[in-house]
Amino acid sequence: MTQKTSKAPAFSLLAFLLCLTFPSQAQAQDYGGGMRDLIAAKCLSCHEPASDNRKAKRELDRAWDMRAVIDTWGDPIAMDFSPFWEVVEDGSMPPKDSDIAALTEDERALSFAWMEAGMPLPADGNPFVDLELAAKHTFVVPEAPAQDGAEATLSGFDRLTRWVGRQHAATTHFPVALLFLAGALRLWSWLKRRGPFHTQEGFCLLIGAPMAAVSAGLGWLNAANSGAGGDDLFYHRWVGVSLTALALLLLLGRKHREHRAYGVALLILLILVAAGGHLGGELVFGESYLAF
Ligand code: HEC
Repeated sequence: MTQKTSKAPAFSLLAFLLCLTFPSQAQAQDYGGGMRDLIAAKCLSCHEPASDNRKAKRELDRAWDMRAVIDTWGDPIAMDFSPFWEVVEDGSMPPKDSDIAALTEDERALSFAWMEAGMPLPADGNPFVDLELAAKHTFVVPEAPAQDGAEATLSGFDRLTRWVGRQHAATTHFPVALLFLAGALRLWSWLKRRGPFHTQEGFCLLIGAPMAAVSAGLGWLNAANSGAGGDDLFYHRWVGVSLTALALLLLLGRKHREHRAYGVALLILLILVAAGGHLGGELVFGESYLAF
């Protein structure tokens, strides 16, 4: 009798230990952790904000965060209809013509296992495929307080130049429209064999070219003070300066306006104005603001 009861604690201890070991064995299959490494190695280079693959970015540019991958490419109801499943199944990602090697059999198996398990996050709780990108794009460095502080310590003159420079955006649309119109009139007369509209073109240049010079000057001031930089600013600046120079030349050389080369220059002006305006828009609103 006493012997029988003395075994019960031993059994329940055993059962308890079994219960402990089973879930921890399941957790040892850390599909999420494996997928984090896989995405870092095979997907991130295209599906991230600095990638120059526009199509890939449009699909998803936050592959540095597994939660974004799950939200965008998962499907909580029918996993085998999810975009992720599709690309793994038909082997279309990474694209065959890319530098990134196709998924290995093990990686495919892991991907399917992960999706069948409901796309769990890594067991260690860290959803970030790339910590550096996560830091860069998640924790936005608060700019406003720093700027307020800086502004407060600026001298009156610096504040004035900064304020004047900011008028670039307000003044620039005016010459953009006029110079664009000057080129468009010439294009119109060539295409439709109407016109010529020399008087109207001249009017647009007469007002547009000096305004462009003012606006370019303000833009230069604004660039110095706004903290903008990089390729976009470089191209915007030099397209702006070139089109201003061209507009002034066209204004001064108006007596040649019947010449074919003058018309070609007007069309170049039209293209430069469109390009410069677009680059300026990207500077202000971000690169993909025109994406459809
Ligand atoms: C070399 C660049 C590149 C790599 C690496 C890459 N992708 Fe893509 N991905 C693209 C491009 C480009 C598109 C857009 C395809 C299109 O529009 O035809 C895309 C689209 C997708 C789509 C949407 C497909 C659809 O039809 O909706 C999914 C899902 C996807 N990628 C998943 C992945 C996964 C998962 C990986 C890693 C295993 C990966 N990608 C790696 C370039 C890449």
